[in-house]
Amino acid sequence: MQSTARAHPNIALIKYWGKRNTELNLPAAGSISITLAELSTDMSIEIREDLDSDQLTLNGARADDLLPRLSNCVDSVLGRERPRVDIRSSSNFPVAAGLASSASAFAACVVAADALDDQPRTRAELANLAGRASGSAARSLYGGFVELENEPSSVVVRNLLDAGDWPLEVVVAVTSEARKTVGSGEAMELSRKTSPFYAQWLEQQPDDLDTARTAVAERDFARLGDVAEHNCLKMHSVMWSTRPPMVYWTRSTIGCMETVRELRRGGVPVFFTIDAGPQVKAVCMAAAAEQVERALSATDGVLRTLRTPLGEGARLLEGD
Ligand code: PMV
Repeated sequence: MQSTARAHPNIALIKYWGKRNTELNLPAAGSISITLAELSTDMSIEIREDLDSDQLTLNGARADDLLPRLSNCVDSVLGRERPRVDIRSSSNFPVAAGLASSASAFAACVVAADALDDQPRTRAELANLAGRASGSAARSLYGGFVELENEPSSVVVRNLLDAGDWPLEVVVAVTSEARKTVGSGEAMELSRKTSPFYAQWLEQQPDDLDTARTAVAERDFARLGDVAEHNCLKMHSVMWSTRPPMVYWTRSTIGCMETVRELRRGGVPVFFTIDAGPQVKAVCMAAAAEQVERALSATDGVLRTLRTPLGEGARLLEGD
């Protein structure tokens, strides 16, 4: 028995940074994201009665370091008494470098594992299971613009607009392909415990969510960009003021931010956002995407760029 699912990473415009329950991996606040079409993870899960332990290959190579989290994720869907599985995952973008590879991996994992179960779950249930593995993964179950609401014992994830309802594009400027040294789960716990700005960060989140939700509903690009950049820089202020400091930026990350500001000064509708990694994601109106990509490609230290429209939620490609 085997099944294969495809999921796309998402990037948050209103970020999640901090948990209120580490056991259930529940975020301390809500978030709003967009799902990216051209970046994807395909994951096949095959039941293998002949294996003594699960195995994982990532882009064709054994990836034992990433296996425990994926095994746990499969357990959360199929139960701990399940037979062993062979997991084959392939992504068309760098893993663990701030491109939300865990979001697409765990979203694909829950959808593929669910197809091997007798009782299929609802999308909302799958979003909660994916969110236990990686907070942002819950959002990759949905396409377009997605809001994650933080309820007392679970998360409620819903689609605000479909990808085609407001066809924005994202240009990712890759400034480093190195794997990050501190994972986001560990880093946000350090922020919660040590950053003097953490409480204020959480306190202001509902206002930013309201502003962004309204901007999305009204397709108000300038308003969305304004609140998204502000929210991103607040999250990074919390990261920078963590002990030890969580600084994910490179010199080129700052150069890319300046490129985006310069484009905007010239009237180009674009804003940036940055996650727990050095890449800069420029969100723009579709008509501006080519110009934005050209400007970012020409920015010092940019290794390459990726360009993508918004995409769909996680889905099954094939299943038995
Ligand atoms: O999904 P996690 O636990 O790896 O956290 C990711 C957090 C950020 O990407 C930095 C922000 C977000 O909301 O996606």
